[in-house]
Amino acid sequence: MEILRTIADIQAYAKARKQEGKTIGLVPTMGALHEGHLTLMRAARAKCDIVIASVFVNPVQFGPNEDFDAYPRRFEADCQKLETVPVDAVFHPEPSEMYPEGFCTYVNVEGDITHKLCGAQRPGHFRGVATVVTKLMNLARADEAFFGQKDAQQVVVIRRFVADLNLNVHINMVPIVREESGLARSSRNQYLSAEEKDAALILSRSLRKAVTAYESGETDVATLKQIVIASLNTEPLARIDYVELYDFPGLNEVPRVTQASLLAIAVKIGKTRLIDNVILGKEAGEA
Ligand code: PAF
Repeated sequence: MEILRTIADIQAYAKARKQEGKTIGLVPTMGALHEGHLTLMRAARAKCDIVIASVFVNPVQFGPNEDFDAYPRRFEADCQKLETVPVDAVFHPEPSEMYPEGFCTYVNVEGDITHKLCGAQRPGHFRGVATVVTKLMNLARADEAFFGQKDAQQVVVIRRFVADLNLNVHINMVPIVREESGLARSSRNQYLSAEEKDAALILSRSLRKAVTAYESGETDVATLKQIVIASLNTEPLARIDYVELYDFPGLNEVPRVTQASLLAIAVKIGKTRLIDNVILGKEAGEA
């Protein structure tokens, strides 16, 4: 696996692969890789000739009081995991390489899709995500890019700017990978104590209750949200940031689930903010 650290490195690597007529799949990550990321890598491996992963904790998508400094960084362990897929190259730049002195151009998806859910809680977050993902897709000359359904709003935002800016990249959404307990895999799970990890199971359990109600014929959005809220409130360590249900991928408010819809939650367990979701009304991953 090639390790690419500079803009010049990745540009030369991608140019050479393109000259060989290869298709390139990009999997952007912030590292601290887990099975969820490796599932994205395998999806890219199955679809593309060349797989480039990026490992970059992107400073511009973190708010001033968020966990940028604490975010786990373990590049060597990440490389060992990437080798198992295998991935062809990993791009691991310094922040100053991505955002040199004088950098002042951002991709800002305006409008409703960035103002709700995590956008409402984390102002500027999607501007940072859209900017870095645009740069990474451009640098890697990606034909395909792969993202997890756990960040379903991120996928909606990325698909929006890819369409608006006429970028020639296909965006793949890969279903959520869960631990056996049901907990959605996340790099932030590492912040949880054993007690908090137990408490965190309330997220997937609460979503499951809503799925069961939906499968038994309940389509009223207020009722489905209330089922989740009531269930989350049974866990003393859980503090709800949001419980929302929107049509998907439009993210519009709807009174009833009559089409694909995203039931999304953000919950603090202790100091750790976790997100999870299910897509009702169609097979997960179909989008
Ligand atoms: O989903 C993430 O880990 C990040 O938002 C991404 C897409 C790698 C951009 O920094």
